Amino acid sequence: MPSSTAASSELERLRQLVPEFQLIRSSELREKCERTWLRALKEGGFTPDDIQNIPNSLLTKDPVPFAVSKRAVARMCAAMWDTLHEYYGERLKADRDTLVAGALLADAGKFLEYSYKDGKWGKSSVGKFLRHPFTGVALAHAEGVPAPVLHVIAAHSKEGDPYPRTPECIIFHHADFTDFELLG
Ligand SMILES: [Fe+2]
Repeated sequence: MPSSTAASSELERLRQLVPEFQLIRSSELREKCERTWLRALKEGGFTPDDIQNIPNSLLTKDPVPFAVSKRAVARMCAAMWDTLHEYYGERLKADRDTLVAGALLADAGKFLEYSYKDGKWGKSSVGKFLRHPFTGVALAHAEGVPAPVLHVIAAHSKEGDPYPRTPECIIFHHADFTDFELLG
């Protein structure tokens, strides 16, 4: 298959597996986010279908699949923004697209951090040096993802604890840890 045809079929498959990309209203930002996932999958040696098997975490005994967690948290973030906006209107200083894009991209670096070897999942050779917030920023920056979304990726997990998080990052951080602590 010619590489451009292969790339478009990978994009189509990604869109089937993660319809939550459609929650990003800006088509330009949505496409940058999709391209970041495809770049990350390729660099990690994975295909879109692998997201159904890659574990969401290496820290829990019975982790949920990566794809399910990312989809759930993206939906949670959109719902949280919609609810807060309904009640507080302009008092809510958070951008919906930045939040949802950040939610979908925050863990894309796990495609470089994790690898499957000798029948089990573990840290890859890259993952031993760089956790996913770092690789995630590099991958998204290469696709032109704007700085407010890069901040969500960079500061969403423990690495961001010492720094002030933006409103979007605060919402995502709590949705993400709700998902992780309750479901793994
Ligand atoms: Fe994460």
